[in-house]
Amino acid sequence: MFFGSTPVLLWLFFLSLSPLTKAKVPAIIVFGDSSVDSGNNNLISTVLKSNFQPYGRDFYGGQPTGRFCNGRIPPDFISAAFGLKPAIPAYLDPAYNISDFATGVCFASAGTGYDNATSKVLNVIPLWKELEYYKEYQRKLRSYVGENKANEILREALYLMSLGTNDFLENYYVFPTRKSQFSVRQYQDFLLGLGENFVRELHALGVRKISITGLPPMGCLPLERATNILGQNDCVPEYNNVASGFNRKLEGLVAKLNKELPGMRMVSAPAYDIFYQIITRPSLFGFEVTGVACCSTGTFEMSYLCNQYNPFTCSDANKYVFWDAFHPTEKTNKIISDHLIPLLLAMFSH
Ligand SMILES: *[C@@H]1O[C@H](CO)[C@@H](O)[C@H](O)[C@H]1NC(C)=O
Ligand SMILES: *[C@@H]1O[C@H](CO)[C@@H](O)[C@H](O)[C@H]1NC(C)=O
Repeated sequence: MFFGSTPVLLWLFFLSLSPLTKAKVPAIIVFGDSSVDSGNNNLISTVLKSNFQPYGRDFYGGQPTGRFCNGRIPPDFISAAFGLKPAIPAYLDPAYNISDFATGVCFASAGTGYDNATSKVLNVIPLWKELEYYKEYQRKLRSYVGENKANEILREALYLMSLGTNDFLENYYVFPTRKSQFSVRQYQDFLLGLGENFVRELHALGVRKISITGLPPMGCLPLERATNILGQNDCVPEYNNVASGFNRKLEGLVAKLNKELPGMRMVSAPAYDIFYQIITRPSLFGFEVTGVACCSTGTFEMSYLCNQYNPFTCSDANKYVFWDAFHPTEKTNKIISDHLIPLLLAMFSH
């Protein structure tokens, strides 16, 4: 009840009245798309990969991991802020096992969405399959640390969900099927219905703390700008409107789920506005380039098209808001994460 009907700022106020106890989030568990994938796509048969240079060139050891970034992505920063490890391993990565995953694990897959049809476009892991992997993880955790300890970890863990962009930019606006079935508003509702079912299933599995990220200002991704020729390569307003409309509906859904699901603490992470600020006023945040990405020409390259043979890739990614045509740089990820972390700590670390 309380969570559902109380605005976030009021929450922060209440929480500031009680002494903050020691961070009580034993693990960060991640579902979603390339905004949060730490390398699951390396292990599946898709063309959407990033486990080669120059991806990861500013990561630990300059190592490409399958993160769609030059460095770390938001779940990594959030994990560190909760006193957990500084990088969250991908569930499918054979270099890690349940002793690593007990404090953080990522089930996300670049290119996926809420809609099954979206994951089929590039043959990546559909959301229902991320859930199947999570169930397998629960079983492994129970046999590793025992039933009681596992249940405590699973209940107190913070779950991050971040997806939805691909449903529009890789599916709805590209292929005719969904467009012939749904108006944009109906498709938003369809996706949110799928998200609702997913969260209800998580709740039934014992999940209680969720931060869900809605859509970014997706009309400002370099790839979308590059195709906005009539608009002089500016942001595509329609896509941004669809994103903010989706986010408003998502907030309503989160309030409803907090009311209806016993013990649920869910928040819709306010990432859109800060991201939009960074894109539209880059110099305030120390950036020099916002319209094109660092990698190669910065207009359309990502995955295999962003590779070490591109002669144009920038030398200092910290000057760029975007790393490749679809994904922010580590610096942008850090600014957005730093914006979200106080809210997440206040809501979940007790
Ligand atoms: C996990 O891997 C580590 C290092 O490779 C190994 O020492 C440990 O025994 C493994 N743990 C399990 C539960 O498999
Ligand atoms: C998505 O695919 C899975 C597996 O085939 C299926 O169980 C599920 O019902 C599908 N979801 C929708 C909304 O069609």
